Amino acid sequence: MELFIDTANLDEIRKAAEMGIITGVTTNPTLVAKEGKRDLKDLIAEIASIVNGPISAEVISTDSEGMVREGRELSKIHPNIVVKIPMTEEGLRAVKVLSSEGIKTNMTLIFSANQALLAARVGATYASPFVGRLDDIGFDGMKLVSDIMEIYNIYGIETKVIAASIRHPLHVTQAALAGADIATVPYKVLMQMVKHPLTDAGLEKFLNDYRSVKE
Ligand code: E4P
Repeated sequence: MELFIDTANLDEIRKAAEMGIITGVTTNPTLVAKEGKRDLKDLIAEIASIVNGPISAEVISTDSEGMVREGRELSKIHPNIVVKIPMTEEGLRAVKVLSSEGIKTNMTLIFSANQALLAARVGATYASPFVGRLDDIGFDGMKLVSDIMEIYNIYGIETKVIAASIRHPLHVTQAALAGADIATVPYKVLMQMVKHPLTDAGLEKFLNDYRSVKE
């Protein structure tokens, strides 16, 4: 399973990219807003200059014409741009047009297997089920990821599944076990994945044992 980073913060993106653990980036309007008043296109262009992989940038329009217009503009920023479109009727129309033009798309805010099926029907490159937000309201978010994987596998659907709204390291393990193509993970969770108390304790003992004799 590939890992994308779920942020618009350049420092976090740089650090994760330098470590070599991520192959793409997802942003959304909330994450972009956290970076202040910076021009969206400049920000996305800078992200694309750091990570050589898919960079999802989301449209703000809610009508299909506006989404298509914005999507075409975003796609011109860099060949790696993936236009993120919300799962609505208008969004489906927009993804159909953008995919027919060869523009890569990521259908976002997916909360049911049927929505994922529809995203595939209109040729979305990626579908993003939101795990944490389903867990928040008492539904099993990861069950949605495994249902979508099962359906996509039955029909040989090529749309890739990005497990999104990841809140903790266990979500990442579960997404991998469910067969998700990608998990998009906040920086904090990527760093939590690195840590294990036995690794720290083991390293400390190795170094102490060595120093006790050699120094
Ligand atoms: C997905 O692409 C979204 O950017 C993101 O995963 C949403 O996560 P949240 O529910 O933690 O806001």
